[in-house]
Amino acid sequence: MTALLDASSVTVRFGGLTAVDHANLRVDRGQIVGLIGPNGAGKTTFLSAISGFVKYKGDITLDGGSIAGLEPNAIARRGLVRTFQIVQPLSNLTVLENVMVGAYAHLGTLQRKEAEERAMETIEFTGLAEVAGRLAGQLTLAGRKRLEVARALALKPKVLLLDEVIAGLNPAETEKAVGLIGSIRDRGVSVVMVEHVMRAIMSLSDRIIVLHYGRKIAEGSPSDIVNNEEAVRAYLGESHAAS
Ligand SMILES: Nc1ncnc2c1ncn2[C@@H]1O[C@H](COP(=O)(O)OP(=O)(O)OP(=O)(O)O)[C@@H](O)[C@H]1O
Ligand SMILES: [Mg+2]
Repeated sequence: MTALLDASSVTVRFGGLTAVDHANLRVDRGQIVGLIGPNGAGKTTFLSAISGFVKYKGDITLDGGSIAGLEPNAIARRGLVRTFQIVQPLSNLTVLENVMVGAYAHLGTLQRKEAEERAMETIEFTGLAEVAGRLAGQLTLAGRKRLEVARALALKPKVLLLDEVIAGLNPAETEKAVGLIGSIRDRGVSVVMVEHVMRAIMSLSDRIIVLHYGRKIAEGSPSDIVNNEEAVRAYLGESHAAS
């Protein structure tokens, strides 16, 4: 069976630095794939390549069709959307306006009424209804991260790439975010999540990929990864020590 998302031998170079080095990633329908690795391993850059934000070498297909070389908006229209590690809400617009702008900007043909309906539905789904009229700049970090997810979901993706939407949240907020990601998957959206919060990644992921210096050094189920010596040495050991 063809994978929903299939990134094959993706390489990204910044000058002399190879940030992503012949990395592969495959996501099937209804799956959550976790992408982990130490700071600077190339996780964000890999997501940026898949979503069209940086140039790369390699092949990437979505639903059987190549998306290599397409612009982010074109990739979003095909059904793949990412969030940003550094959240970028429009601070002087309301939460509702932020979600609507996202939908408009990426899906040029959307009618206002449809954009508003989608935005409201997404806002309710992501638990932002109570703050829909508030300025985005006034939200807590947890609220801004939720908004980042809502803006992406309003584009109705088949595949959602999440870049550290849990990092920095307190335990109660983390639990809610884990619940939200699980319900996104339950709606049939496939998810690739980059995250340093191990409890979250271990509980949600069907499969985990470990990047180190841009290379994939391990891949498997959460229990495979905690039992993989190279992966633990590269990453899990230091992260467990830190959290
Ligand atoms: N636009 C850029 N220009 C030059 N180098 C970059 C650029 N973006 C990232 N890098 C470098 O590429 C490498 C991978 O960075 P990346 O941000 O993808 O890592 P990461 O795994 O997401 O790390 P973190 O866990 O800290 O978010 C790092 O060495 C980084 O300094
Ligand atoms: Mg990153």
